Amino acid sequence: MQRILFVCLGNICRSPTAEAVTRAKAPHLSLDSAGTAGYHTGSPPYGPMQQAASARGYDLSPLRARQFTPNDFNDFDVIIAMDAENAQDIEAQRPTGAYTPVVLFTDHIGEDGTPVPDPYYTRDFDGCLDLIERCADGLIKGLS
Ligand code: 4NP
Repeated sequence: MQRILFVCLGNICRSPTAEAVTRAKAPHLSLDSAGTAGYHTGSPPYGPMQQAASARGYDLSPLRARQFTPNDFNDFDVIIAMDAENAQDIEAQRPTGAYTPVVLFTDHIGEDGTPVPDPYYTRDFDGCLDLIERCADGLIKGLS
């Protein structure tokens, strides 16, 4: 069983969307998401993100934000960051002897280093969903 953790900054826009989209496409995978920051711990995904996702059939409403912890290196087989800053913040918490890979979501569509832009700031929720759907397809293809 592949255990995959998606990580962004707030865990209310990009990573919960990545979790729900990937789950819809590959229900057999064990998925979770987290934020490097704790500002939104316990909150549901951001309303406009939920609405844009819902229009494509993805239900984000059961998800609640939590903060990334170093224990996540033990609990997951791969950690997928939405941008390079997220990846850096995760790597800074890597415990000694933990070898879980930290990769970018866009690595799975051959765009290594490209971020998933944060729609909390860009307001482009549909563009975010377009990119996340492509990355999820690439991820799942790479696992099979
Ligand atoms: P996310 O977007 O990292 O995709 O969940 C953000 C949402 C909220 C904040 C930052 C990023 N914030 O600073 O409140």
